[in-house]
Amino acid sequence: MIVGGIVQVPGDKSISHRALILAALASGTSEIHHILQSADIASTAHVLRTLGASVPPLGPWMTIDGRGRRGLTAPKGDLDCGNSGTTARLLAGVVAGHGLTARFTGDASLSRRPMRRVAEPLVAMGAKVTFEEGDHLPMTVQGGTLRPLSWVTEVASAQVKSCALLAGLVAGVPVVVREPLRSRDHTERMLHAMGVEVDRVGEVSRLEPVDQLKPIAFHIPGDPSSAAFMAALAVLATSGAISIPHVCLNETRTGFFRALQRMGARIELHIDGQEGGEDVGTIFAWPSELHGTDVAGEEAPSMIDELPLLACVAARAKGTTVIAGAAELRVKESDRIKAVVENLRAIGVVAEERPDGMVVTGGDAPLKGAVKTHGDHRIAMAFGVLGALPGSAIAIDDPGCVAVSYPGFWDDLDAAVTT
Ligand code: S3P
Repeated sequence: MIVGGIVQVPGDKSISHRALILAALASGTSEIHHILQSADIASTAHVLRTLGASVPPLGPWMTIDGRGRRGLTAPKGDLDCGNSGTTARLLAGVVAGHGLTARFTGDASLSRRPMRRVAEPLVAMGAKVTFEEGDHLPMTVQGGTLRPLSWVTEVASAQVKSCALLAGLVAGVPVVVREPLRSRDHTERMLHAMGVEVDRVGEVSRLEPVDQLKPIAFHIPGDPSSAAFMAALAVLATSGAISIPHVCLNETRTGFFRALQRMGARIELHIDGQEGGEDVGTIFAWPSELHGTDVAGEEAPSMIDELPLLACVAARAKGTTVIAGAAELRVKESDRIKAVVENLRAIGVVAEERPDGMVVTGGDAPLKGAVKTHGDHRIAMAFGVLGALPGSAIAIDDPGCVAVSYPGFWDDLDAAVTT
């Protein structure tokens, strides 16, 4: 298989959510270029509008008139977050900080995902959070006059950390969050670029109250989690090369590429500059001979969304790959440990499920069989890459679910494979 081309991946999903939320809270007009136009970002835009923000339809160049730091208003109906955990968790903090009451709902997948992890810090700040069943959506957040927070999270989660930071930002109280491992730090970087006194040192993030947020003018860099699929395709090809320019290369997001390099992949990451406090650059990837590797828990947060893809790449590497310390995968859009292992087996790969990860033994027999995505975009795309390899015959039950994060994925995949 020959690959080639320069692939422009869509804007980063995590940064796109934050850009909309923080632009809505700014004092003045923000300009956002290259936002991700996908279902998850549409969910954040929709919820912000329900909270009184003025958010135009998603487009390549957006102008947002902020409502001010505490300018959102009581919603008339439920806040439907669709499939998006980031929407629900970050905006729970925003609602609590405003002293508003709102009921958060979501689709079947989001309604299974744990929300107590955000309820607990918000309750410690003085908000009330109620569940109708278990610890998942629907969830009603009732804000109030919030207290300062010093919080230690059980899991490394940028969504939980950001929920607490945003609650403190809106309420005007200091917040300190300590995590077991460092999670992605886009919230801290964007807040800093908007004039907020916030820092992250190792696993500790601190925010000091401010009166107002300066508006931003921001070109959102490409999503490294989307770029990962194209880099994997190049690595698994027999000849050619793929380059992916203008990608966010924040080191809390690039663990997948480091793991691939360890497996023998020829991949280069070149930082070309900064945008809104984020490192931005180009990824180059070439066909490579791969061998298995071990992924330890400390690395997991920096490649949490790419682990299904890493397991799929491992299916074509020599030897065995062991992924450990990644139990969080079980509470993503699907149980990604179970989904990946069952699907790998369904296409003829030797794979074993572990409580906190999986073991995959690589081979070179053609991959054939039916894959169940469980509506999970990253499962569809990871197996989509394997499906593009010569000799593969993989039927994917719901290819359209890629719309959550990378609507043009199938077109980009087709265009990158030249023969
Ligand atoms: C995200 C954080 C991660 C990641 C998710 C996006 C974010 O989730 O898996 O896709 O934008 O903050 P956790 O915070 O649950 O680790």
